[in-house]
Amino acid sequence: MQHTYPTGEKTKQYIDTEWTYGAHNYHPLPVVLERGEGAFVWDVEGKRFFDFLSGYSAVNQGHCHPKIVDALVKQAHLLTLTSRAFHSDKLADYTKYITAYFGYERVLPMNTGVEAVETALKLARKWGYNVKGVPAGEAKIITVEGNFHGRTINVISFSTDESARKDFGPFVSGYVTVPYNDLHALEAALADPTVVGFLVEPIQGEAGVYVPDEGYLAAAFSLCKAHQVLFIADEIQTGLSRTGRMLACDYENVKPDVLILGKALSGGLLPISAVLSSEEIMLTIQPGEHGSTYGGNPLACAVAIAALEVLQEENLAAHAAELGDYFRSELKQFAHPAVKEVRGKGLLNAIVIQHDDPDAAYTLCLTLLKHGLLAKPTHGDKIRFAPPLVISKQQLGEAIAIIKNALSSLD
Ligand SMILES: Cc1ncc(COP(=O)(O)O)c(C=O)c1O
Repeated sequence: MQHTYPTGEKTKQYIDTEWTYGAHNYHPLPVVLERGEGAFVWDVEGKRFFDFLSGYSAVNQGHCHPKIVDALVKQAHLLTLTSRAFHSDKLADYTKYITAYFGYERVLPMNTGVEAVETALKLARKWGYNVKGVPAGEAKIITVEGNFHGRTINVISFSTDESARKDFGPFVSGYVTVPYNDLHALEAALADPTVVGFLVEPIQGEAGVYVPDEGYLAAAFSLCKAHQVLFIADEIQTGLSRTGRMLACDYENVKPDVLILGKALSGGLLPISAVLSSEEIMLTIQPGEHGSTYGGNPLACAVAIAALEVLQEENLAAHAAELGDYFRSELKQFAHPAVKEVRGKGLLNAIVIQHDDPDAAYTLCLTLLKHGLLAKPTHGDKIRFAPPLVISKQQLGEAIAIIKNALSSLD
């Protein structure tokens, strides 16, 4: 599909170039960005936008946060990559810092989110064979319908989104899928003694910000305990203050056996991910059995420490909780007939559009773009609103006015 260009000539040229030379694996909105600061980004025409996607929640600390940029620049002048063939001072500092920060015994550093998910799945299988005593080659992992954990062949093997899977088979076996937010189905699946792990997003982000019933995570965790199964939380999108707590699991006092982090672990500067767990689980993986050239590189370690410090120093979880309540109550009160539902937690929110025109959500995003706010539809009728957590209440108020105006133009 070719684009229409609501803005200037430069925009058109950049989009044409990318369209001509790049793969067509995304369908971006027709805007070309060149600069960011805090909650804002600017395009090549000099127009300013509220960023209500935040790199799919990677930019929780705001664009180009000065403290994180300083840490990056300082470390870039010192040492950037050693590989794990050698130790580095920064990796030592980082392992101590992040394990204390989240209260875990061990960390395994990776780069992208999906790599950390792969790591968690490998860990669960290793633990299943070495500790739980599951017969060789029989380990199973329970996943849920509507999940999104990334794009590798293994991870799409248990996706329920046909467009993510079509023509990419054959797939990897060893996964069982149950409906999300369904404890009976989970309990039934857990009865199989070869199950080693339950992989879950505390709120399903990509699926359209589905918030499970209160108590679901805590009850699922207890069921996993009762069946000697690892509770594996993918907090790549929900974690790091996004939903109003440091982790979305904190709302239910659940401490996952295996915690997966990514995205905002760098505040949007680098691909940095991590898996945190206990000694018993983590040390089932031995030297030579798993790793990555860039995983745990000194540059990433310095950036991640700074990114985590910013979350605490700026009290971003509490800020997200307060602003999230404000955002949802404003949009609910507005009660526009095209908005079927407003849902979310903290500053991870979505609206569901109901309209005769099946492209209404996309059209609304184009209107928002015209009025200076960037948001993207997911799964056709849902629009996610997830600004950087550093947005002020006054800025959020301006953004809400833009959203209300755009909704009013939808007839
Ligand atoms: C919950 C969740 N898991 C995993 C991923 C994959 O992360 P990455 O794109 O960095 O591989 C994402 C990305 O959106 C995600 O939201």
